Amino acid sequence: MKDLQNNAITVLNNNWKDKFSIPCAKLYPFQWFWDSGLIAIGFAHFDMPKAEKEIETLLDAQWSNGFIPHIIFHTETDTYFPGPDFHRSDLHPQSSEKYKSTGMTQPPVTGFVLEDLYRISKDRDATLKFIESVIDKVYKNHEYFYNQRDPQDEGLVYIYHNWESGTDNSPIWDDIWDTMNPPEYTFERRDTTHVDAAQRPSKREYDHYLHIIEIAKQNNYNDQKIAELSPFLVQDPLFNAVLLKSNQSLIDLYRIIGNKNNNDKIHQLQKWQDKGTKAFNNKLYDEELGVYVHYDLRNEKLLKHISSSSFAPLFANLPSEARAKKMVDIMMEKFGNPDQYLCASFDPTSDRFNPKKYWRGPVWVNLNWMLYYGLKQYGFYDIAKRMKQDTIEIIDNNGFYEYFDSRKQEHKNGNAGYGGHNFSWSAALFIDLLNE
Ligand code: DGY
Repeated sequence: MKDLQNNAITVLNNNWKDKFSIPCAKLYPFQWFWDSGLIAIGFAHFDMPKAEKEIETLLDAQWSNGFIPHIIFHTETDTYFPGPDFHRSDLHPQSSEKYKSTGMTQPPVTGFVLEDLYRISKDRDATLKFIESVIDKVYKNHEYFYNQRDPQDEGLVYIYHNWESGTDNSPIWDDIWDTMNPPEYTFERRDTTHVDAAQRPSKREYDHYLHIIEIAKQNNYNDQKIAELSPFLVQDPLFNAVLLKSNQSLIDLYRIIGNKNNNDKIHQLQKWQDKGTKAFNNKLYDEELGVYVHYDLRNEKLLKHISSSSFAPLFANLPSEARAKKMVDIMMEKFGNPDQYLCASFDPTSDRFNPKKYWRGPVWVNLNWMLYYGLKQYGFYDIAKRMKQDTIEIIDNNGFYEYFDSRKQEHKNGNAGYGGHNFSWSAALFIDLLNE
């Protein structure tokens, strides 16, 4: 394991670009929001200054309304599509003047990442000083979400694009594509020059992705207009669980900092937290399936599919003990067969399951990492242990890939790693799992 840990460190150091990390060479050559946060957790174990710099750079790209973009285009390169000239973040009046970016966001991991840096740190006083220097920006990001992304004031925030979910190509979005009929755009894909097309979304799926962005751009990325007009408007259980988890981390960190000037912020966070937790449990839980699902706010219905996002609420301590037990039973029944690695990204018993394709079935290290901590938190120690062992084993079998086949038989020849190679968050969270 020591060698593998050294390899993980090498992956992170190679993907480090002076003040931020790329998820991997070629396929993802810029800084991505949730990647960046999870990468910082890995660095925290062996190079805290890089962990801090990673977060500082991410927050430096924050817009003046508190928004943090999903991609920050630090460099010019034509190896990625769609790039800055397509996204045109400058259309929004409050976008960053310093950095070009996208006009969409990603799961807001930064709050809980700061708490993880504190957990991991060997010099907590120094780390707390760093946290103090950035925490208000993260608070401002949460304020943005609750003020701009919750049009009915429910305590739940919407995403307007599948790329905001992080689970970009999930079969859940098929239900939304069925309600749309975008034009056929002419463009040149770059991802499929780096990765086998069988592991990536189809051309027709990209038409949908681009169409939603075109609508947002026509409205200068105005949140109210997007809420009114976007064909994709979803309350996502993973996204909202991450936001609630981060709320709690901010509350805990402000308390540790202990400056009474922060009391109003703690009070506000607690209000968001109480309301959000209630709404999450009332609206996103499906009694029939026994898990949490996505709510399609545009078409006003639950999207009744079980994915790894359905279990993410465990990470944020949202379900009751009884619900958690039921969820874990379902996880083991559908995803936990001994010939499968935990945890497929989509229900292996569904006919939409595809164990090779981007978010349509493969195992992802970031979700496994969240589920591991979630299971442990609820006292499911044996299943948590398997989640951790499976994660280590798929990396040991194949290397630090972006995603992995969930079927054990595919791992015999070490060819079951897919998507990007030497992928940063796989390395970062591997280091965390080994050392927690
Ligand atoms: C991609 O290009 O597929 C990215 O994941 C978008 O975030």
